[in-house]
Amino acid sequence: MGIGGYLVLPWRSLAVLSLRLLFLVPAGVPVRSGDATFPKAMDNVTVRQGDSAILRCMLDNRVTRVAWLNRSTILYTGNDKWSIDPRVILMSNTKTLYSIEIQNVDVYDEGPYTCSVQTDNQPKTSRVHLIVQVPPQILNISSDITVNEGSSVMLQCLAIGRPEPSVTWRHLSGKPRGLVGDDEYLEISAITREQSGHYECSAANEVAAPDIRRVKIVVNYPPYIFDAKNTGAAVGQKGILRCEASAVPLAEFQWYKEDTRLASGLEGVKIENKGRMSMLTFFNVSEKDYGNYTCVASNRLGNTNASVILYGPGAVNGLNNSAAGAMAGLWLLGYLFLYALVKF
Ligand SMILES: *[C@@H]1O[C@H](CO)[C@@H](O)[C@H](O)[C@H]1NC(C)=O
Ligand SMILES: *[C@@H]1O[C@H](CO)[C@@H](O)[C@H](O)[C@H]1NC(C)=O
Ligand SMILES: *[C@@H]1O[C@H](CO)[C@@H](O)[C@H](O)[C@H]1NC(C)=O
Ligand SMILES: *[C@@H]1O[C@H](CO)[C@@H](O)[C@H](O)[C@H]1NC(C)=O
Ligand SMILES: *[C@@H]1O[C@H](CO)[C@@H](O)[C@H](O)[C@H]1NC(C)=O
Ligand SMILES: *[C@@H]1O[C@H](CO)[C@@H](O)[C@H](O)[C@H]1NC(C)=O
Repeated sequence: MGIGGYLVLPWRSLAVLSLRLLFLVPAGVPVRSGDATFPKAMDNVTVRQGDSAILRCMLDNRVTRVAWLNRSTILYTGNDKWSIDPRVILMSNTKTLYSIEIQNVDVYDEGPYTCSVQTDNQPKTSRVHLIVQVPPQILNISSDITVNEGSSVMLQCLAIGRPEPSVTWRHLSGKPRGLVGDDEYLEISAITREQSGHYECSAANEVAAPDIRRVKIVVNYPPYIFDAKNTGAAVGQKGILRCEASAVPLAEFQWYKEDTRLASGLEGVKIENKGRMSMLTFFNVSEKDYGNYTCVASNRLGNTNASVILYGPGAVNGLNNSAAGAMAGLWLLGYLFLYALVKF
């Protein structure tokens, strides 16, 4: 196309000149809208990129010569093809209709096309605009990212299409959920953990279904222990202390009794970490196990700790608050119930 176009340039100019002489077409004489005289071209033609466009020009029997032009370049006069573009085809050349087809329309075909006729020695032209639509397409979108809580984040979603697509951002998880932006750029200053998750960019125009892509934001934050309950266990039984922390990345856990760090496999205990939870298991609880334990949760952003008490049914070791006391009582009830079950 490109090379051919350049080669025929002088020829095209010549063609326009000769057409002007032939029909005595004054440059750019439009037919007024509502003019009942011929030629009558159609309203603007709108097609999708890649589709075919048909340009029609209605005639009457007074018409002696006809031509279709792309801007000032002749495509066809009568049955003679002047365009070297193989996509341009003569569809109909009758007394009433003169039409051409442009196949595989592309954006550079958009523009004014002119039907030019000679009627009663009067040159007349009628103009139709070919409008090329392109479905929305996201060309470039930010990659998934990981940031620390409090930092600023800029997401981009670059889209093309004709008409220009409107770009919107939605947050698919956390808070706020739903529409969070209507620009190619989404700026989040001082991001919070609730703002982590998937973001969806949608580029929409009326041509086709929207193009949709997603970006994932991971927000790192230091551990926060939300569950660490005091637990009761009888001597000779199994006892389990649990500690749950939310953190990104996931927290690592350590257990202490007073200043001593506990290790898995030593002194009849096992430490198991599963996701957000850490479990300290005593295989065979003895009197000396009762007491105040500290669960420490840490990641590279910081650490926190909580104390958990392992208490026995008789001696409520170290429990001086009523909540823990009530729990011990509950435990005792359960113990008695179990005891009753075993007994009968
Ligand atoms: C045809 O398209 C042209 C260019 O986009 C515009 O100026 C004109 O108003 C349109 N005419 C009609 C009838 O829609
Ligand atoms: C119409 O003219 C434009 C500008 O010269 C050109 O790029 C395009 O290929 C032409 N289309 C047809 C169908 O002739
Ligand atoms: C997408 O945008 C980024 C930043 O503007 C740029 O570095 C990258 O080359 C672009 N990628 C593509 C495929 O255009
Ligand atoms: C638990 O420990 C006690 C005393 O240390 C021992 O007598 C008992 O056999 C142990 N029980 C189990 C199940 O290992
Ligand atoms: C357990 O120990 C922590 C500090 O190590 C202390 O703050 C807490 O009060 C203790 N709990 C009880 C019930 O003694
Ligand atoms: C628990 O946290 C307190 C205050 O944040 C700190 O002073 C203490 O050293 C921590 N304990 C452990 C065992 O990390």
